[in-house]
Amino acid sequence: MSNKEKLVIFDTTMRDGEQSPGAAMSKEEKLRIAKALERMRVDVIEAGFPIASPGDFEAVQAVAEVVKDSTVCGLARALDKDIDRAGEALKPAVSGRIHTFIATSPIHMEQKLRMSPQQVFEQAVHAVKRARNYTDDVEFSAEDAVRSDFDFLCRVFEAVIKAGARTINVPDTVGYSLPALWGERIKKLIENVPNADKVVWSTHCHNDLGMAVANSLAAVMSGARQVECTINGLGERAGNASLEEIVMAVKVRRDVFTCDTGIDTTLIVPTSKLVSQITGYPVQPNKAVVGANAFAHESGIHQDGVLKSRETYEIMRAQDVGWSTNKLTLGKLSGRNAFRARLQELGIQLDGEEALNNAFARFKELADKKSEIFDEDLQALVSAAFQDEGERIKLTYLRVCSETGCTPEAQITLTVDAKVREVRSVGGGPVDAAFKAIESVVQSGAQLLLYSVNNITSGTDSQGEVTVRLEKGGRIVNGQGADTDIVIASAKAYVNALNRMLEPLGKMHPQV
Ligand code: KIV
Ligand code: ZN
Repeated sequence: MSNKEKLVIFDTTMRDGEQSPGAAMSKEEKLRIAKALERMRVDVIEAGFPIASPGDFEAVQAVAEVVKDSTVCGLARALDKDIDRAGEALKPAVSGRIHTFIATSPIHMEQKLRMSPQQVFEQAVHAVKRARNYTDDVEFSAEDAVRSDFDFLCRVFEAVIKAGARTINVPDTVGYSLPALWGERIKKLIENVPNADKVVWSTHCHNDLGMAVANSLAAVMSGARQVECTINGLGERAGNASLEEIVMAVKVRRDVFTCDTGIDTTLIVPTSKLVSQITGYPVQPNKAVVGANAFAHESGIHQDGVLKSRETYEIMRAQDVGWSTNKLTLGKLSGRNAFRARLQELGIQLDGEEALNNAFARFKELADKKSEIFDEDLQALVSAAFQDEGERIKLTYLRVCSETGCTPEAQITLTVDAKVREVRSVGGGPVDAAFKAIESVVQSGAQLLLYSVNNITSGTDSQGEVTVRLEKGGRIVNGQGADTDIVIASAKAYVNALNRMLEPLGKMHPQV
């Protein structure tokens, strides 16, 4: 670790990232992501919004129980009931933080909260004092700080620092700012708010104009020492600042930054893949750092240059961000103990021997089709095992017929609430035929918004990972499926999305 100042990395993949349409995560999924973030040495993990739903409360509590090396944070509006719920969920944490917020811009105060600035001021102070009853580690955010009156913002920040906030977060909630302006705003806040040196200044930027990372880095250059970000830039609307870009910018441009993160950058790519796989949000190939093409050189001149000296066209090494940590893990001959040990190393906890036996049986099935099993394969396999628990619709059989000159046909067997249904359907292609067959049984009437296929690892024997996004009556869900046969993976993903559609309605949105 360098002797530079610490830049705190606050990950909000499981809270703001979860606000992406269809990206809601289960407790088990959050636990796996939390373990990956902890291994990567993320400083603060915002695990959720405990008042949002009983499920989110349990997820935050479970993360608080399991994570030891990172601070676990829960979000709370500046309301007693939210703060009490967050305090309760965080009780088991070795290090727990309550993050409370209220909007301070005229438009939010008038139109959304219907409160006067004085009421907002008092509620902010009250919230911080209440949160301090649970923990010393209280963060305050002024939602829509970007469009808030500067003097009012200073007054609120001064008062919440006095009330006991330790971190002051300045969000660009709507992704409206520009780097020079954001840097200037942070600098002026630090210069003007009394006792600014007693707290950590933080920034939280959204990406509506594609500026989230640039704005966050401008804030860091002006003295912010915490950045709120998400893996793959996942998040509300156009997303949040992406963790991997922030961390690598600070590392690669260490000549410019006077602070440093404690992140183990070699775990960036595996964590990015895990989040993409769990949320069903694929990473665009040309995405900085974690995109499949981020280190691929297409033009002959570039290839020639890189072969002669890597630095001609590369500013960082692929292995430094984890591209080569694609470890060959297990094979056909690996036993149950090796399988269990690797799951443990990946932070995957299966409940009891039966769950382990089920997962091991799936592993053996996969090892028969694919000689080399990687960590990514194990993650997909475990996702499938968790998915199957308690699902009302199950795919038990699929046969597709696809040949030149013939109309593709799918024959499918589903069990719906334990009732067996068999159907056949034709379609434009084998996937279309399979989806039509499933739909003819379930009759969900949902609209297919997205269908995407990615290979989990490389090679033609790789498992295909399919994401299906469905919408019905304004509700959006994502479903995932993985298999070495992409038609089967597609059918699994469609069934998974339908099962999610059948679950009770989702969570409350924090920005209400
Ligand atoms: O974007 C935002 O303002 C938020 C706050 C809750 C910090 O997510
Ligand atoms: Zn946000």
